[in-house]
Amino acid sequence: MRTIAIVNQKGGCGKTTVAINLASALAEADRKTLLVDMDPQSHCAVGLAVPEEQIEQSIYDILISYSRNEPLKLSEILWEISENLELAPASIDLSAFEQQMAGVPERECCLQKVLDSVGNEYDSVIIDCPPAVGLLTFNALRAATDVIVPVETGYFSLHGLSKQLETLSILCRRCDQHVNVRVLASMYDIRTKMAREILGELRSHFDDKMFKTTVNFNTKLKEATSFGQPICEYDPASRGHADFKSLAREVVSTQAKEPRRQIVESLTDQLEAITATADELLEQAKPRIQEIPTSKPEPARSEALKPEKPDLARTDAKLSDYYGANQVNDAIAFVTLYPRAKAVQVAGDFNNWQPSKTPLEKVGESGVWQTSVKLTPGRYRYRLVVDGQWQQDPYNETTELNPFGGHNSVVEVK
Ligand SMILES: Nc1ncnc2c1ncn2[C@@H]1O[C@H](COP(=O)(O)OP(=O)(O)O)[C@@H](O)[C@H]1O
Ligand SMILES: [Mg+2]
Repeated sequence: MRTIAIVNQKGGCGKTTVAINLASALAEADRKTLLVDMDPQSHCAVGLAVPEEQIEQSIYDILISYSRNEPLKLSEILWEISENLELAPASIDLSAFEQQMAGVPERECCLQKVLDSVGNEYDSVIIDCPPAVGLLTFNALRAATDVIVPVETGYFSLHGLSKQLETLSILCRRCDQHVNVRVLASMYDIRTKMAREILGELRSHFDDKMFKTTVNFNTKLKEATSFGQPICEYDPASRGHADFKSLAREVVSTQAKEPRRQIVESLTDQLEAITATADELLEQAKPRIQEIPTSKPEPARSEALKPEKPDLARTDAKLSDYYGANQVNDAIAFVTLYPRAKAVQVAGDFNNWQPSKTPLEKVGESGVWQTSVKLTPGRYRYRLVVDGQWQQDPYNETTELNPFGGHNSVVEVK
């Protein structure tokens, strides 16, 4: 079974369009296909005319049931779209998934377990991801054999791409996984000089990490979505349909013939290589990590900022090495990733469990939050407070049971 996650943290770059129409084109080519919507906005249902108000159970219910070890059958939530295509729809509940799963062991493997349970029933699974990096996307990545990153051929999309790939590599560094990652030029408007130049650049830099097929900008694709149909039904004679047939052929023809681990490099390596290329391509200043602010007058300097290691201080991605709570000199640096949060605070025994005393600061637009607190040697317990919700630090594995039945994260100052 091929499991292909469509990932890009940028909204509007064509993920759902690719997910729906690639899934339909694979089904048209006689491959039994499952489309899984992991975006709480449930656009796949909208784009395939599945009435949202009649979706009683969604992929959310299945994922939660697996996390509770009382697995529901995936078939209970599936909608038949065409002879070879079924949809596992999303629902708005998915937006609470990350917070509800804080502290649950193996919470990033729920989707993988669900798909393993139906492994023999499908030839292909396509996963549409939300435009944010978080537990939902991480679940998709854990389940995936392939990742497609659709990239709009505009200047700003390149900037987005670089950030996107950095973030993917952060996620993948956390697990040892072999995945085949490829970039797909989407919404390509051949009439504009900018698009042609950018496609040329992408091709020369990404080479075999890029699909030969491009998905052209085609208003029929937009119309098809608003009529709730895949392009193969809405307008089989359109350019959009030809593009997706070609993409499906390319996907099938690059099917691993040898055991997967022998032919693909590790996802981390691939992503790091691609990221480096994207950096080169952009030739523009990356958002620089600011010095980690301290709540005391004398700031502790992060290891990342020492002049002898300038590379570590360069990008947000590198800050990922510091996700969690880490001692930096006589302070603890709290660094975490919540792209959608409006406020992140930390409450612990060092501030009398008062979150308002220790807010984290946002680092640019990357979704990274950080602060540091000077502490005397000892063992400290804390929780993160994200938009008012108390939760365990997802990047710190050291925890203790608290009197409320949840877990406190624990950090030690030496
Ligand atoms: N190749 C394309 N040609 C024309 N319109 C497109 C194309 N791909 C996507 N769109 C339109 O662009 C908008 C955003 O696409 P969508 O697939 O929803 O992106 P995402 O899922 O990444 O947010 C939608 O209105 C969609 O119909
Ligand atoms: Mg979408």
